[in-house]
Amino acid sequence: MSSLLRIDDLHVNVEETPILKGVNLEIRQGEIHALMGPNGSGKSTLAFAMMGHPKYEITGGSIEIDGVNLVELDPNERARLGLFLAFQYPVTIPGVKVADFLRHAVTNVRNPDRKEGENLIPMREFRKELRSKMEELGMDIEFARRYLNDGFSGGEKKRMEILQLAMLNPKFAILDETDSGLDSDAVRVVSEGVAKLSGDQMGVLIITHHERLLEFNTPQFTHVMLAGRVVETGDASLAAELHNQGYAGVRERHPIAAAEEEKAAEHVAG
Ligand SMILES: Nc1ncnc2c1ncn2[C@@H]1O[C@H](COP(=O)(O)OP(=O)(O)O)[C@@H](O)[C@H]1O
Ligand SMILES: [Mg+2]
Repeated sequence: MSSLLRIDDLHVNVEETPILKGVNLEIRQGEIHALMGPNGSGKSTLAFAMMGHPKYEITGGSIEIDGVNLVELDPNERARLGLFLAFQYPVTIPGVKVADFLRHAVTNVRNPDRKEGENLIPMREFRKELRSKMEELGMDIEFARRYLNDGFSGGEKKRMEILQLAMLNPKFAILDETDSGLDSDAVRVVSEGVAKLSGDQMGVLIITHHERLLEFNTPQFTHVMLAGRVVETGDASLAAELHNQGYAGVRERHPIAAAEEEKAAEHVAG
């Protein structure tokens, strides 16, 4: 049976301020979902809260995979249950190469009971797997020998993210790709990588405004967030409509949320 990721009435505070105000979302393994919405609507907050970032306080609701609530679990435990969030790995880890990092990450997800520094998955097995995934993704094997994030370009950071996704092979991947600074190489890496890796065993939530990403990965469902709630869900045509027409129509259809959005913006502006 396919797994289900279910977010139910999720409330999240950031520094005492309510940001998410009852988010509902269901993703099945094998489905591609797009999450869109204007700046500040809470998309990244949802991603951070799912990851278990300490700054994002869950004040109500649940995040479940097949009925297991993740809210009280640490990020490692969430990963073991099959959740992948485009990692906020440290900016640089001196002396750690891409391959070392991935070997630890993979071990961590597959052998949760090992003692620190022990029982890493065997080097030969790991190398073989890494090589085959990198081939599948059309990546140069040299990349695995680079020091993690040391002078990585935008595209290389995304290569790292996609390679990690390939190696961990999660049930659910949450990819926050809203960064307007993504260059075309980076967008291509993510678009093609997700298209190759997502299949009937992976559920994907892509948070993005990039048309190209959604062209390569046509979402079955598009969700629109406004003022901390998912106010609309449609199919790929909703994503296209938002690209072409922006959020004016959404705000018109949801005047209460639009008013809350305006109020929050005034508050920020002081
Ligand atoms: N770490 C944070 N500290 C303070 N405020 C934050 C933080 N993260 C998000 N917010 C606030 O939460 C709201 C939603 O932000 P965010 O989730 O980043 O929106 P989106 O990703 O949809 O652009 C914004 O009003 C933003 O100012
Ligand atoms: Mg964001």
